[in-house]
Amino acid sequence: NTMRNGFPEGFYWGGAIAANQAEGAYLEDGKLPSTADIKARGFFGGLRRDADYYPTHRAIDFYHRYKEDLALFGEAGFNIFRTSINWTRIFPTGEEDVPNEKGLQYYEDLFREAKKNGMTMMITISHYETPLNLVDKYGGWDNRKFIDFYLKFVRTIATRFKGMVKFWLTFNEIGNAAVIPICWDAAGLHPESENLEQRMYQAAHHQFVASALATKMIHEIDPDAQVGAMIAYKTVYPYTCKVEDVKAAEAAKRKEYFFSDVQARGYYPAYIWRYFEENGIRIAMERGDEEIIRAYPIDFITFSYYRSRVVSADYEEPAEKTTDTLEGLVNPHLPKTDWGWTVDPDGLRLALNELYDRYQLPLFVVENGLGARDTVEADGRIHDSYRIDYMSAHIKAMREAVKDGVDLRGYTMWGPIDIVSNGTGQMSKRYGIVYVDLDDDGNGTGNRSKKDSFAWYQQVIASNGEIL
Ligand code: BG6
Repeated sequence: NTMRNGFPEGFYWGGAIAANQAEGAYLEDGKLPSTADIKARGFFGGLRRDADYYPTHRAIDFYHRYKEDLALFGEAGFNIFRTSINWTRIFPTGEEDVPNEKGLQYYEDLFREAKKNGMTMMITISHYETPLNLVDKYGGWDNRKFIDFYLKFVRTIATRFKGMVKFWLTFNEIGNAAVIPICWDAAGLHPESENLEQRMYQAAHHQFVASALATKMIHEIDPDAQVGAMIAYKTVYPYTCKVEDVKAAEAAKRKEYFFSDVQARGYYPAYIWRYFEENGIRIAMERGDEEIIRAYPIDFITFSYYRSRVVSADYEEPAEKTTDTLEGLVNPHLPKTDWGWTVDPDGLRLALNELYDRYQLPLFVVENGLGARDTVEADGRIHDSYRIDYMSAHIKAMREAVKDGVDLRGYTMWGPIDIVSNGTGQMSKRYGIVYVDLDDDGNGTGNRSKKDSFAWYQQVIASNGEIL
């Protein structure tokens, strides 16, 4: 690869959002609710039908304002834009035979507009946006029927958007999509359900089969398109050098690597069979499933990286847990964000090296950024030097990884425009280089303005990662 400054020539620089966190217009032009639309104040608030407020219903109105937003991204110099296709715009109940033309037209217009502004499209097919009707009727992804509903969706969008989407990602953060109950849907409505772990791995199996068949299908429909995995990566450190802690860290890593191992290598790794056996987990597979998974592995790996985590064999002993409910212990050597997420740029370099060593496949960092509160000054400006520091340190870490020899193809920062937080439903947890005037209850003008980080990122892109 020819290099230009710190990164390969043609490196993809841009931003990533998810449809449900940005579009709003949740019942417009034929759309019906997805699971994201009954998230009460985010993911950690659970799926609820009786909440007083659902932030995704209006979100930042990207549905109507996308032209203005894409023009800003174009001005920043983005050559790639990642979003998801809201499943229920295309198949409102998930069960229709004929797709909703208005939904298809919306995305066609969006992709043309992105292209006009210089951006290649990367599309997440499923970003925690399963049709609510399917979940009500059939439960979650542990029900095999979801494979066919998903593939009908994939066939429709791959056909319609042939030549318009270069990179497809089959499931956002597949490890989360399959194992965090609210993400694989029915269990989000029934978190108390029995045999949860068994059902999660069954859901994962169905997503693996669906992903492999989607890969096959997209390659047949559009030979120029590529299909990738998308995982949530949190670099794992043992709490101490006690062998028990190191072993616990290794086990924790494998629990996460399991998903990309299957999608990249095409088979279930040996360690998971032992885990299943020792934990009484039995996966129902149909004849041919393993062949399908083997025959159609993904082309590249993408991942989100926000932080590292610390694992100990003994969760009781070390004092403080992070404020984040996902997992992990506090790393006393690293700073944290206001939301308790560890800030660890070197962890990104380690992640890139580990992933490349493991798979030897092209990599993209498709989510990274700092969720922070911003202050609008009297003159309307927003001095977000903390965000610049965060991103600069992470891009430097990527530059080091490129020097290490990692085949890194692109970087799409998370939430280049402020959007609704997936975890908490807040607007005040902002990632953007573009500010949106809305508060946690949806009050405000919705107007857009550039933060200091806008001009900074523009320079980074123009210099191909030289000026940080
Ligand atoms: C990732 C998700 O887990 O993290 C995004 O793919 C999400 O949807 C992002 O928004 C940041 O998390 P949060 O909770 O700060 O929005």
